[in-house]
Amino acid sequence: MKKIVVLSGAGVSAESGIKTFRDSGGLWEGHNVMDVASPEGWTRDQDLVLNFYNERRKNAIKAKPNEGHLIIAELEKYFSVTVITQNIDNLHEKAGSTNVLHLHGELFKSRSTLDPNLIYDIEGWELKTGDTCEKGAQLRPHIVWFGEMVPMMEVAVEETLTADIFIVIGTSLQVYPAAGLLQYVRSTVPKYIINPNMPDIPGSSNLHLIEEVGSVGMKKVKKILLGEGKK
Ligand code: APR
Repeated sequence: MKKIVVLSGAGVSAESGIKTFRDSGGLWEGHNVMDVASPEGWTRDQDLVLNFYNERRKNAIKAKPNEGHLIIAELEKYFSVTVITQNIDNLHEKAGSTNVLHLHGELFKSRSTLDPNLIYDIEGWELKTGDTCEKGAQLRPHIVWFGEMVPMMEVAVEETLTADIFIVIGTSLQVYPAAGLLQYVRSTVPKYIINPNMPDIPGSSNLHLIEEVGSVGMKKVKKILLGEGKK
């Protein structure tokens, strides 16, 4: 079975009503990124950070996967599919994808500030000051903040190196190390880039640029792949 690796970004959730980052003028729901998504921001104002992610969880709970997520999940019928996402929402999982790697963490999970191995599901939308892990330490969002390590990067590189087909959907490819994954795709592997505002793609072979929104782009890629898959 051929292996597809999908690298997704905020754009794949845009049609589900979840705002992207750079399209909203660099502010996140009116907040400076470094105030709500950095260790310094957490130290400065823990409640501001907790409330920021509570608001995002409230939105994400109502959001439904769109055609783009659903087609990515459907491809598991014909291929081995690994989704490497920069998104913290759970729409790939809600759509039925069974192998999702969250490079930047997960909105519906919390983590102990004392022991990073203690990770918990967040029931509902709220995480507040006073919510503690089993060792009594404050819980924080299980999100990779700016300036923090991306622990899943090694696994993501291994997955990318073994891809037979690589799909990039809904990302501006501006944030590293995630954006650097493209460099690990073998030169013989077809790369389908789906984005209505195509970002600059560092010199690469076998590129198929699809200037469409996620749902339309994934319909086109599915047609191409299934045609290929029937050979
Ligand atoms: N379908 C597909 N792509 C879309 C759509 C759509 N309907 N609407 C917008 N896009 C594209 C935009 O053109 C843009 O290139 O999605 C991309 C979103 O880019 P960003 O907002 O930069 O989001 P992303 O690339 O995921 O950001 C990466 O940066 O802010 C940090 O940690 C955060 O994970 C995030 C990372």
